[in-house]
Amino acid sequence: MMKRTATTRLVLTAAAVLLLAGCRGNTSPEPPIHLNPNMDTQQKLVAQRSSNFFADGKDMRTPPEGTVARGELREDAAYFTGKNDDGSYAAMPFVMEAADLDRGAKRFAIYCQPCHGEHGDGKGVIADPKYKYPIPPTSYHEQRIRDMADGNLFEVISSGIRNMPSYRQQIPVRDRWCIVAHVRELQKRGAPAPAPADAQTATPAGTTTETTTTETAQ
Ligand code: HEC
Repeated sequence: MMKRTATTRLVLTAAAVLLLAGCRGNTSPEPPIHLNPNMDTQQKLVAQRSSNFFADGKDMRTPPEGTVARGELREDAAYFTGKNDDGSYAAMPFVMEAADLDRGAKRFAIYCQPCHGEHGDGKGVIADPKYKYPIPPTSYHEQRIRDMADGNLFEVISSGIRNMPSYRQQIPVRDRWCIVAHVRELQKRGAPAPAPADAQTATPAGTTTETTTTETAQ
């Protein structure tokens, strides 16, 4: 009885050693043995990969010439570029509903406020001297910006201007217009009055007006 257990143990150990040793150090051009492939490997086309299914070896297909994907037709120049067919800047191309204004305010807070500030006066967090941002973001309360057409503001967001980057990739077209509406709204509200505390305590540029207001209230 004793002897049999010992033999079994020996055989098992030898098998284990062989098995483990067999897996080490062997390279093979074959894919690894995959006992249960399940759905791990599928015959499908993956973006940016090659494929031997099509003659040209690409798996991403070029749309047939002269065709436009559904919903991708960009006929309305004013809406998509901010410019009319004659090259002049377009006016707001659709009626802003309350939900659009709300959307604009929220997108503005994400994409513009860090630089241009909550009130659009160019005093976003980035203007704090500690960030050493080289170019002060423009205040929307400047007469020049007030006089700009809606389409021009849309173009600035889409393409950027001088030292301001473009937000075309991050912000969809409709949202850009909603942001323009919010910029107009900020302009209507007017630049926040400089708090008297500013002059006395020489509050560093970039301290938000919100803080300043609280300071004054105290
Ligand atoms: C990274 C900081 C930054 C962000 C974010 C930013 N801007 Fe600007 N913006 C600037 C700077 C800097 C300028 C001044 C550029 C210059 O004159 O070189 C500027 C200029 C402008 C101007 C004035 C254009 C002109 O004709 O002089 C408008 C309008 C404007 N931004 C709107 C926006 C809107 C709307 C957003 C959000 C979608 C936004 N900006 C996001 C930094 C920013």
